[in-house]
Amino acid sequence: MSDFSQDELKTRVAQAALQYVVPGEILGVGSGSTVNKFIDALAGMKAQIVGAVSSSDASTARLRALGITVVDANDVRGLSVYVDGADEIDGQGCMIKGGGAALTREKIVAALAQRFVCIADASKRVQVLGNFPLPVEVVPAATKHILRQFAALGGAGAVRLVQGAPLVTDNGQHIVDVHGLRIVDPLAFEAMVNQWPGVLTVGVFAQQKAHVCLLASQEGVQTLNFG
Ligand code: 5RP
Repeated sequence: MSDFSQDELKTRVAQAALQYVVPGEILGVGSGSTVNKFIDALAGMKAQIVGAVSSSDASTARLRALGITVVDANDVRGLSVYVDGADEIDGQGCMIKGGGAALTREKIVAALAQRFVCIADASKRVQVLGNFPLPVEVVPAATKHILRQFAALGGAGAVRLVQGAPLVTDNGQHIVDVHGLRIVDPLAFEAMVNQWPGVLTVGVFAQQKAHVCLLASQEGVQTLNFG
């Protein structure tokens, strides 16, 4: 049996996702290292892609470097397909996302799409969400109150830092990462946290869950359908 590195697994799953790209349509493109591989793979079929709605400035730059037109999310009524990675995915297709701090725009683009195709390696598949620290994009003035609310649920949160200063997202906000949660009902959890003042986006994707997950392992790329 071949021993593929995690990087090679990402390349394989990214290539497998090309089959979901609808020629002649605008494509939704997410963010992260697995999606970077997907964007690289898109080079081979870029003549068939009329444009992309991107979920981050980083993906936008990568798409433009390939010569793919990037369209504003406000300029499309909908998308057939959105391809993105995940930090964790459970057996229903609910995910934790936001490890790359792009969760708000990722959720917006996912909401535009009829089909969310998640691309990941098998290490991302979990029984219950919460082992990966939950990213939440917050308005800075609300940070401490939001951290106290997570503490009441048993979660230990901290503001994400870059070189000692709070990371500032593409939307000008901050990220808190919350450890120690066990999210057994992702839909209810997402709805609850969404109501807290100052929360811009919670990194639980249950409303916008994956319809399909391509999961790469040493055995190959498995397709999980969530309907
Ligand atoms: C970025 C994300 C990414 O999709 C997620 O972090 C997975 O990234 P990677 O493919 O690098 O493991 O949600 O906000």
